[in-house]
This record gives sequence, structure tokens and C-alpha cells, in this order.
Amino acid sequence: MGRLDGKVVTITGAASGLGRAMAIRFAAEGAALALGDLNEAGLQETVRMLDESGASTSAKVATRKMDVTSEDDCSALVADAVTRWGRLDVMVANAGTGAPAPIARQELADWDRVLRVNLTGVFLCAKHAFRAMTQNTPAGGTILALASVAGLEGTPGLGAYGVSKAGVIQLVKTLALEGARYNIRSNALCPVWIQTPMVDAFVANAQGGPEKGKERLASTVPLGRLGQPEEVASAALYLASDEAAFVSGIALPVAGGHTAGFAMG
Ligand SMILES: NC(=O)c1ccc[n+]([C@@H]2O[C@H](COP(=O)([O-])OP(=O)(O)OC[C@H]3O[C@@H](n4cnc5c(N)ncnc54)[C@H](O)[C@@H]3O)[C@@H](O)[C@H]2O)c1
Repeated sequence: MGRLDGKVVTITGAASGLGRAMAIRFAAEGAALALGDLNEAGLQETVRMLDESGASTSAKVATRKMDVTSEDDCSALVADAVTRWGRLDVMVANAGTGAPAPIARQELADWDRVLRVNLTGVFLCAKHAFRAMTQNTPAGGTILALASVAGLEGTPGLGAYGVSKAGVIQLVKTLALEGARYNIRSNALCPVWIQTPMVDAFVANAQGGPEKGKERLASTVPLGRLGQPEEVASAALYLASDEAAFVSGIALPVAGGHTAGFAMG
């Protein structure tokens, strides 16, 4: 039996990286998927990969080109799931972006954009998912947001990003408390550097080249490497499934020991 059999899941940012990896893993575990992203071509590539993996047929996947900063779009993505499958069980608010810069050189427009996508976008998706989950019979569901270790710790050059992710962690805690009486659980995942296009972009202009840049990132992780998207998808699967039925209001690091303390030598 699949660990998400019978579950209806929405994932934002499903055209790339972690969103795509979660879509593939969740489909293999039996979920029906309503996927959203700004990038329509990337979404179609995710659908192609789902078909190819045999994890899901297109009959169990809906896609929508959408922007998480638009309340209408977030509401429409939730409606895709409810209209097609009659319910929503899991919202994965994953879409995110960055604008790395030291605070003293951060443009206001970039700061606003990062907060709007990473924090307001999660709020809007969670708001509409929460409403749909209260309409399930019986009420219930799970909201899972992609935060980051940058939301738990300060990271030079990632001020706007880190603030947005800290906000996401605060948001899921509030949702966990507000959702408890409806059996709506809410949690955040806090990955460290994971091998996705976001990290590729981050190291694109690194001193010594992208590979050197990745080595430097890996050296900050006690396990000594970048994470893989599938490793984040495994943690997401646990939190999304009924195996985590008594887990709510947490921010789970998926970080190779990064949050354990200061590694010597
Ligand atoms: N990769 C990492 O190292 C890492 C670490 C910690 C947290 N995260 C978080 O995980 C999430 C996924 O990151 P990723 O590494 O897969 O990044 P990615 O850049 O590979 O994918 C992000 C996806 O989000 C989509 N997106 C961006 N803005 C959007 C918007 N306004 N509306 C709809 N879709 C939008 C993009 O089109 C893209 O498909 C993000 O929230 C990111 O902050 C990533």
C-alpha cells in the first residue's frame, strides 16, 4: 500500500527541484496531485517525468500555471484539487525564491519580492488550503511549508531569504494551533543546501567557479555534502503522511547535522 493512498495533494513550485522531487515521490506513494508553478514548461516536464516513472498517470495529475503571490491563483490551485477529487488533504507550500545580497546592498524591490513570494505566498496557499481542509468529512489535513536552515540561523548574504523563512516557521506554528481543533496539522521543513537549480544559481558566479562554490557550501555541512532533492522528499513524505498524525507545529531540519552545533576541524 502507498503511504499516501487516497490523499489529494497540492504542491507549489512543482516545476523544479524539491517540488518536482516531492511530486514524483508522492505520486509513487499513491497521491493525486494538483501542481502549480509560474513555469508552465517546467510543470509539463514534471508531468512527463511522472508518466515516465510509472508513478502516476496523467489522470491523477492536474497542473496550473500560477503565481503564489496572487490570492486568486492560490485559491484556484486549491479549487483544482477540490473540484477534481472532492477534497484536499495536503498542501505543500514549496515555491520560493532568493535575492542574495548583504543587507547594506539589498535593493528594496528585491527584499519586497522575496518576502512576497516566500512568506506571503505561503500565507495565501495555507489560508485557502486551511479553508478547504475544514470542509473535508471529517475535517482534517496537513500543511507543509518549505522553510530553510536560513530561517533558523543567520546567513550572511541571505538576509531577506532568512527573514522570509523565519516568518514561515512562525506561520506554521500559528497554523498548527489554529488548525488543531480541525485536525489540521502544520509543519515546516528546514533544508540546508540541496542540489537543485536554486543552488546552481547561487553558485553560478562563485569565486573559483560553481564546483568550488558547491565545495564551500558542502564544507558547512557536518555530513560533508549537499543534500539531494529526494532526501527532502523523504522527510516531506513522512510529515505529509498519517505516520506523522501526532506531529504538528515543528520546523524539521533536513540539514546533514548543520543545526546540531559547531563542527570542529
Ligand atoms: N535548494 C536548497 O538548497 C533549499 C534549501 C532550503 C530551502 N529551500 C526551499 O525549498 C523550496 C524549493 O526550492 P528549490 O531548491 O526546489 O528551488 P527551485 O528554484 O529549483 O524551484 C523553485 C520553483 O518555484 C517556482 N516559483 C518561484 N516563484 C514562484 C511564484 N511566485 N509562484 C509560483 N511558483 C514560483 C519556480 O518557478 C521554480 O519552479 C523553496 O522554498 C526554497 O526556498 C531550498
